[in-house]
Parts: sequence; structure tokens; C-alpha cells
Amino acid sequence: MFTCMLVGIYTFSAILCTITYRLSPFHPLYAFPGPRTWWISNLVFSYISFGGKRHVAIDSLHKIYGPFVRIGPNMLSINTLSATCIYGAQLNMEKSDMYRAPGHGDTVSLFYKQKTAKIHADRRRIWSAGFTSAALSHFFPPLERRLWELMNCIEKRQLNNKTGTVDISECICHWSYDFMGEMVFGGCNNIEMMTNGDPEKLVYGGKMAMVMQDSIGHTSWLMDLVLHLPKSKYLFRLIDIGADMIRTRIQADKDVTMRDLSSYLLEGDAQSGEKLSQADLELDSAVAVQGGSDNTAVIISLAFYFMLVQPKYYEMLRAELDGAFSDCTGHLDNTKLANLTFLNAILNETLRLCTFFFLPRIVPPGGLVLEGNYIPGGTVVAIATHSLHTSPAYFSPAPQEFLPERWISGALGLECSTDKNALMPFSSGPHGCIGKVFAHQEMRLVIARLVLVYDMKLAEGFDAKSYLQEMVHVFSTTLQKPLLVNVTRRSGIDLEKTSPM
Ligand code: HEM
Repeated sequence: MFTCMLVGIYTFSAILCTITYRLSPFHPLYAFPGPRTWWISNLVFSYISFGGKRHVAIDSLHKIYGPFVRIGPNMLSINTLSATCIYGAQLNMEKSDMYRAPGHGDTVSLFYKQKTAKIHADRRRIWSAGFTSAALSHFFPPLERRLWELMNCIEKRQLNNKTGTVDISECICHWSYDFMGEMVFGGCNNIEMMTNGDPEKLVYGGKMAMVMQDSIGHTSWLMDLVLHLPKSKYLFRLIDIGADMIRTRIQADKDVTMRDLSSYLLEGDAQSGEKLSQADLELDSAVAVQGGSDNTAVIISLAFYFMLVQPKYYEMLRAELDGAFSDCTGHLDNTKLANLTFLNAILNETLRLCTFFFLPRIVPPGGLVLEGNYIPGGTVVAIATHSLHTSPAYFSPAPQEFLPERWISGALGLECSTDKNALMPFSSGPHGCIGKVFAHQEMRLVIARLVLVYDMKLAEGFDAKSYLQEMVHVFSTTLQKPLLVNVTRRSGIDLEKTSPM
């Protein structure tokens, strides 16, 4: 009893001292403004993040406190373009502990935090071989075939739905997992959601894994606790399934004809001759499927959402595409797509409004000076991407509104200002998105094909406002509601005749 009391008094005093220190002028971040409750513990940040509206909360803090806000005992949120250097190669700042790989093992995987920058650079070199333009060209035949499957899927699901509508975002999501499965595991892929649906709840599990990482993961001890709960097993379902597929893929190696992403991972490091361990291969291949499917699907779906809420944009894009391609089902050349002004404007505007990343990095030991503010070494800093993307300092007029014209020189008159450098949906530098170029090519192709082939309108009674309001974002965006659309093939289009399958 007496020992219990002593332990209680000790714990209470330790907590009290920690809180007092964190709030006191002796703390090295005291000079930075911010809400005192957030300074007490990272639990506040984790809690707000878990709710899915962190970007709103942080944005209102920036409006009150300015571009540098202390949002944790040891964490700053930054909302100014000059801070993009925190992601750059020159500073090469380490990822925060939020990025710890699940399980505390020695497994190395590109996305997660590694012990040294060299380990990350070595792994990135191996991956990079799979993202050269020559390597990417191998992914286009399966991408085209899967796109045809997507159109079949949309039509079938609409036919089977009594309301004559289809949840186009679910179809796009299933397409993206099926395609990424094939891009990563070639013929050994067995993710077939367009045909079988998602009985294993891979999409939900993958999203929840990201949500946990980017909310509870900021409070390391809490994450360790959560990962030991039996229910956390479904977070790893994609890793388990990926592990099965990579094992099959290794066995099939000499019979594999397609240069899938696994080919490059299995070859290992060309410089040192070192091969990846089985555990690394398993985690890296799951990272590839999750990283390559989730964001891409969300952005394509939201591009359709915006174009269908304001159909004039669908028509404007259709006109541009009709002008560029005489045959709606013929080959859509990559370079030609990349040069279409309005298609790119739609994509940039969707990326601007719908990426909400908060990517924490650790300031190196010597500290860092940004806009005259000294930030001590060891501080965790991140740019509040959504705040930057919607700041009137960089995007004007109406930074909160979907206005693709802002990306077209002169289209909104002289008053319009668009700072292209402030668009950073893929981050940048040594940890920036390795799939950025491919993601653009993929998204342009899918959007262009669907707009060329289909007339679309939102389902009657579709509540466009609540669709946006109910979306939640923590690393991954969850579209809580179906994007119900009525889809009709444009006259004269025969998909069966032109199918690449
Ligand atoms: C709209 C689509 C996409 C968006 C918005 C996006 C965004 C991002 C961002 C912001 C990061 C940096 C994450 C961080 O620092 O924590 C990242 C990293 C990464 N992305 Fe993407 N991504 C997209 C598509 C893809 C695709 C298609 C692939 C693969 C085929 C991919 C694979 C990766 C990988 C492997 C990383 C980790 C890179 C590293 O740590 O070195 N992404 N992505």
C-alpha cells in the first residue's frame, strides 16, 4: 500500500514537472506562439489528427498565430513557402518517429524511418530503377488493360444497381488496387477488387494503417500499445497478402515475362550487389501497393467530383480532349496528354485543394533559422500543406474555391496570382514521392479516357456540400460517402471492338 502511494506520488510529480517545464519560459520553443493545451502533450495533436479534420484545426491556428505555430511539446507547424527547404536535399532532415515501421524490427522499407540517411538513399536507388521512363513504359500495357476493365466495372455495377447510378469512386479505388497489384507483382497478383469486391477489407485496413500512423503514431508509446491490441491485426492485412504474393513471385521468377516493380526490388542494389531480405521485400511491396493506389484513386475521384458539381468544367475538358484526339477509344499519347492545358489545370487544382499532408521532420543538431526564427535542433517541424495550398499569399482570388482557370495564364485576368512553387502535393527532396511522374501520367490517362467515353451526371439528390464536409484526412483521405453518378456511353462508342484485352 505504502509502495503504491509512493509510486503514485512519484508519477504525479513527474507528470506535473514535465507539464510545468513544457509550459514554462525555460522550454526552448517558448518563444513560438500557439495554444497552451497543445503544448502539454502530443496526445492533443494525436487526438485532433485522429478526428480527420486536423488541417482545419491547424489552419485556424495559423490564422490566429501566424506562420510558425507551436502545436506540441516539441513540434512546430509552418505555413510559409520559405520553409520548403526542410524537405530539401541540402538539409536532408530526418523523418520524425511517427514514421517508425510497425513492429520495431530491423526491417527497412522505403517509406519508413531508417537508422541513417544512407540506408534510405541506398533503398531509394533500388526503387528508382523501377521508375525510369524505360521502366515505366512496361507498366502501360497493363494500365491500359485495367482501364478497360474499369469501364466494364463501372457499366456492370451501374446495370446491377436499381437506381441506375454507380459509386464511381469505389470503382476507381478498386481499379487502382488491381492495377497496382499487377504493377508490383505482375502475373502473381491476386488482388482483383473490380471482379470480387474487397472481402478482405484491404482498402479500409490500408487507410486505417495510415490514419493510425499519422495520428497515434505521433505519440510513440500510445502507438506501441495500440499495435498490441488484437484488433490491430487488420491493419497488417495488406502486408500479409503482399507477403504471400511476393513469395509466389519469387518462386515464379524465371517464368515472369513482365518487368514488374518486383523485378527491380528482387535485383537489389546494382552498386553493392546486395539483395533485399525477405522481410524488406514483403514490407516494400505492400508500401508500393498502398502508396501507389490510395492517393491516386482519391485524386481521380475528386477531380470527377469537382467537374460534376460544376459541369461546365466537364464540358471544357471534353472540348479540349475532343480537339486533341479524334478517336475516343484510340491510343492516348502520354506526351500529348501532358501538354493539355485544361486537363493539367483540373489535376493541379484538385491536388491543391485535396492534399492535406503534414510530414514531420527533425531539425538537425545545429538548429535552423527560418525567416529570422531560430528553431533548436531536435524540434519536429512540418509544413501544413493544406494551409499553404489555400493561403491567399500564394493563390488568389478565392483560394478555397475550385477554379482550374487559375492555372491558365491570363484566364482569370490580371488580379489572379498563382505561385506554382507553393503546390507541393508530392512533397520534394530525398523523401519526396518516387511515383510522382507516373502518378501524373496515370491520372491524366484515366481522367481523359473516362471523359472521352462517357457522359456523366451526379445522381439526383446528391448532396455535394456534405460530400466534401464529411471527408476526413490523415495521411490518407477517406471519402465517407459514395460518389453516385449516372454514366452513359457517348453515342457510337463500341468498347468491345476497341478493347486492348
Ligand atoms: C496522387 C498521387 C500521389 C500523391 C499525392 C503522393 C504523395 C506522396 C507524398 C506527399 C510523399 C512523401 C511522404 C512523406 O514524406 O512522408 C510520397 C512518398 C512516396 N510515394 Fe507517393 N503519391 C502519389 C502517388 C504515388 C504512386 C503512384 C506511387 C508508386 C507507384 C507512390 C509511391 C510513393 C513512395 C514509395 C513514397 C516514399 C518515398 C520515400 O520515402 O523515399 N506514390 N508520395
